Amino acid sequence: MNILVTGGAGFIGSHTLIELYKAGHTALVVDNLYNSNPEALRRVAEIIGVPEIPFIKADIRDREALEDIFSAHRFDACIHFAGLKAVGESVAKPLEYYENNMNGTFVLLDVMRHHGCKNIIFSSSATVYGDPAIIPITEECPKGQCTNPYGQTKSMLEQVMIDLQKADPEWNLVLLRYFNPIGAHPSGRIGENPNGIPNNLMPYITQVAVGKRERLGVFGNDYPTPDGTGVRDYIHVVDLASAHVAALKAIERKQGLAIYNIGTGHGYSVLEVVNAFIRVNKVDIPYQIMPRRAGDIAICYCNPEKAVKELGWKAQFGIDEMCRDAWNWQKNNPNGY
Ligand code: NAD
Ligand code: UFG
Repeated sequence: MNILVTGGAGFIGSHTLIELYKAGHTALVVDNLYNSNPEALRRVAEIIGVPEIPFIKADIRDREALEDIFSAHRFDACIHFAGLKAVGESVAKPLEYYENNMNGTFVLLDVMRHHGCKNIIFSSSATVYGDPAIIPITEECPKGQCTNPYGQTKSMLEQVMIDLQKADPEWNLVLLRYFNPIGAHPSGRIGENPNGIPNNLMPYITQVAVGKRERLGVFGNDYPTPDGTGVRDYIHVVDLASAHVAALKAIERKQGLAIYNIGTGHGYSVLEVVNAFIRVNKVDIPYQIMPRRAGDIAICYCNPEKAVKELGWKAQFGIDEMCRDAWNWQKNNPNGY
């Protein structure tokens, strides 16, 4: 298939391009490079062994630009990664987050419809479950109260697309609810490249390991978990990338609406991740227990059986590979791209 990949220069998008090409698909990337670097696409091309990845620098809110792209190319489906994703920043800049994520998706969906491309895979998030009512989380678990504007945009956009698919069953819509993607491509050539102080656990750990930060702050050790620190379902970004290729099957089958949790089904605490990183990479990670972070929940991990059964997709990598590959990327690219 020929796939439009919005936000394809970003962390998850760049890894997904590799899996798409490996599976015989082709892609065109649209990204405004707000949170990414075109060097990522150059390296993706190098890993795949093609001269370049077709890329157009454009904002998905720019209707004219999207119209031109759809007029000049034929797409079988869109994988929609483009959006702003920093939880803390979304609390400080709600209008920017709602405007970018909601408007960008509205324009994209409208232009897709106009050009008769009604197949989309959307990057959703475990955040839509709020503080989950069921652990491990199944797709039947009710959506919860999101504590930040970023999460609200994911939850609302899911609903917008569900309503659109209901109104027009020609749409095939796959909502992938990602758990916590970490790690990097095993080549060490592409990986996560946060601006400024990392918000997320693994990039913070790797920046401590490489000497850019003094110590990790562990946000709370009084949660109702075995060691008191928060538990998450970390998933290797290459596994997450391959879930998108598998999700194209739901589109090929014209499945209508399909929702999948994309995680490993295993929960690891913050200290378990830190200790795995130290053991696998033989580097020290000084840390300090800090107060809880506002909005955090204690435990979040999924039951990934639905994706296993319906898509034949299952995570292949464990926490050791996640720690190994995250470090391989960071130590070879201490300043990112
Ligand atoms: P990322 O920031 O690395 O990639 C997103 C890309 O979208 C960036 O390259 C950015 O420049 C681009 N972009 C943003 N707004 C745009 C616009 N208006 N027009 C064109 N391009 C635009 O983030 P990521 O980690 O690769 O995440 C990809 C998607 O997955 C996002 O939608 C994110 O919300 C979602 N997601 C991420 C996580 C995670 O932990 N990384 C978890 C759950 C869901
Ligand atoms: N943590 C620390 N110190 C840090 C960073 C994080 O102790 O410096 C802890 C957090 O308190 C939490 C765990 O590490 O217990 C994971 O935190 P992350 O920030 O890495 O990830 P979150 O689970 O908070 O959220 C991430 C994305 C969301 C997405 C969600 C999906 O940031 O966008 O995963 O589960 F919705």
